[in-house]
Amino acid sequence: MSTNQKLRVAVVGGDGTGPEVAAEGLKVLKAACKLENIALETKDFDLGGERYLKTGEILPEAVFEELKTYPAILLGAVGHPDVAPGILEKGLLLELRFRFDQYINLRPVKLFEGVETPLAGRGPKDIDFVVVRENTEDMYVGMGGFLKKGTPDEVATQLAVYTRKGCERCIRWAFEYTRKRNRKKMLTLVAKTNVLTFGHDLWWRTFNEVARDYPDVKTDYNHVDACCMWMVKNPEYFDVIVTTNMFGDIITDLAGILQGGMGVAAGGNINPEPGGVSMFEPMGGSAPKYTGKNVINPIAAINAAGMLLDHCGHAQAAARVMQAIQTVTGTKMKSQAAGKMGCGTTEVGDLVCEAL
Ligand code: IPM
Ligand code: MN
Repeated sequence: MSTNQKLRVAVVGGDGTGPEVAAEGLKVLKAACKLENIALETKDFDLGGERYLKTGEILPEAVFEELKTYPAILLGAVGHPDVAPGILEKGLLLELRFRFDQYINLRPVKLFEGVETPLAGRGPKDIDFVVVRENTEDMYVGMGGFLKKGTPDEVATQLAVYTRKGCERCIRWAFEYTRKRNRKKMLTLVAKTNVLTFGHDLWWRTFNEVARDYPDVKTDYNHVDACCMWMVKNPEYFDVIVTTNMFGDIITDLAGILQGGMGVAAGGNINPEPGGVSMFEPMGGSAPKYTGKNVINPIAAINAAGMLLDHCGHAQAAARVMQAIQTVTGTKMKSQAAGKMGCGTTEVGDLVCEAL
């Protein structure tokens, strides 16, 4: 993306503490753009549980059409205590990921300065890797059904769908990313080839074929169960991981806790194609019980804003945000847990702006 055009960002605060943390992400985004002379235009979109309960709408077509014109969305959180689980997740979050064909779920796993990890004796230099999760296929496609539902003979199927195109574009992106990251230059495929002998055979063959185009990148393989063990025992081993949607969902929660938890971890849902709409989000949910109390940790949302800048071609502004986050986590915050930070949600945003 060109760096000298205006940066247009759609902000979807969503549910619970989502709007509070998104506001801090936006505050830092605005401050960083000002310092870096980036013209920024933002617009708030009212989507989520409240709107659904009032109007029955989750993602109206007109809103989708408007969002389509933005290269980037900053998302707060999705999930409302008065809405049955799955409705908003499927109708909004997964809908946006699928309809915008955001086929990369990028999850940097970096232990920031001053942030506590549950791994004994580990520090920031040990935990710094990236998970590239495929984001449009696998068990997330919603294919399957019931037979004889509600009877003792009930059958339920839930299909995992993998396509050559789907895995190849994700794997290729992960190789490019590993090359650009330029650390260990090692890409680990995480799958379960010993059991999922069709779908993950496709992934395995595609991974090895694409690898030929990247002779400078070292290839590596972990079964997903072993990967979980290694991540806890030797997190420093990993550089970049590429994996399927469902396994990626699971291992990024494990990875998220290693980097200090949901108050810190952020992710990008990326459509890397020209004109693609990408979406950046903190990993923590809507945390209803903390809503409106100014106690939730906005670092993850600020982290998401930094990722958004990087994705939109503003690497320098992004680096500035990441540095400022670490100044604040390293020297100003007591903890990353909600209510125990030693300051409020809005103060954390202010502190990061000061540190920029
Ligand atoms: C995530 C979340 C989502 C997922 C849920 C909320 C549908 O857990 O972003 O990892 O499973 O992808
Ligand atoms: Mn998840």
